[in-house]
Amino acid sequence: MADITDYEAQARAAMYLTAEWGDYLPQANPMMASWLSRIVGSHPTIQFYREVTAFAGPYMKEGDAVLDIGSATGRLLFELSKSPVSFSSLTGCELSKQFSDYARAILLGERPHKDICLLTDSHSVLQVEAFPYAVFAPVRDVCATQRLSIVNENIDAFVKKRKKFDTVFCLNVIDRHPSPKSLAKALRSLVSPSGVLCVVCSFDWRTNISSKKEHVESLDDLFDCSSWTRLAVKEIDYVIAQHGHHVHAYRAQAGLFRPAP
Ligand SMILES: C[S@@+](CC[C@H](N)C(=O)[O-])C[C@H]1O[C@@H](n2cnc3c(N)ncnc32)[C@H](O)[C@@H]1O
Repeated sequence: MADITDYEAQARAAMYLTAEWGDYLPQANPMMASWLSRIVGSHPTIQFYREVTAFAGPYMKEGDAVLDIGSATGRLLFELSKSPVSFSSLTGCELSKQFSDYARAILLGERPHKDICLLTDSHSVLQVEAFPYAVFAPVRDVCATQRLSIVNENIDAFVKKRKKFDTVFCLNVIDRHPSPKSLAKALRSLVSPSGVLCVVCSFDWRTNISSKKEHVESLDDLFDCSSWTRLAVKEIDYVIAQHGHHVHAYRAQAGLFRPAP
């Protein structure tokens, strides 16, 4: 079983492809469709991205430059692409090369290199099939209406380019970063003065990627009022199946913040 922070492992790609694109890959995980849907509904991870989009939606407007940090295989970018609003750009910044390649193949129709196949997970057995271009045609059509790109880079390097965005999403990355406090500080430099940061954290510190003294239990501990104006906070459920027998369910905290004047 892949380590839960190893986003280059094939089992991890199968997990995210199933969670993010299960509605386009209906046979991806029969276990998900049977017992899990009775408990948490069908496609709970996709539901999460839709809730986040609705949460931030009132603060987004025509012509905004939008960034998704840790964009995985691209589902949030797809949900944002469906907006009637035309963004000036939609950018995903993703550390994993494998995830970036999948996002580019699914959202942009880029020709996948030889390792890109369809990876799904059924009863904890990895299924490897040819990449199904045809099923993602409607996704590509929607994404073609926006200026979308995927940058395969560590956010720590990306911030050094000093680009500013009107809306920055950072979902479930803070507790996967070696220094949540320094990441929170760096996010300030990415958000334009009138822009908005949408952050979601599940406070899952079991990975021990960061030191214990960085393990906070509230977004207030990372986004203090001297640097950020809090616009809204709510709890959103983040449910993701690890495989057909094992599901992670988090009550995550979501916050919308604006850089303090
Ligand atoms: C727990 S997953 C969350 C994925 C997605 N944002 C979501 O909420 O479903 C963490 C993602 O962040 C990416 N990631 C982790 N550290 C990163 C970093 N330093 N820079 C950019 N992406 C990172 C991982 O590769 C992975 O895709």
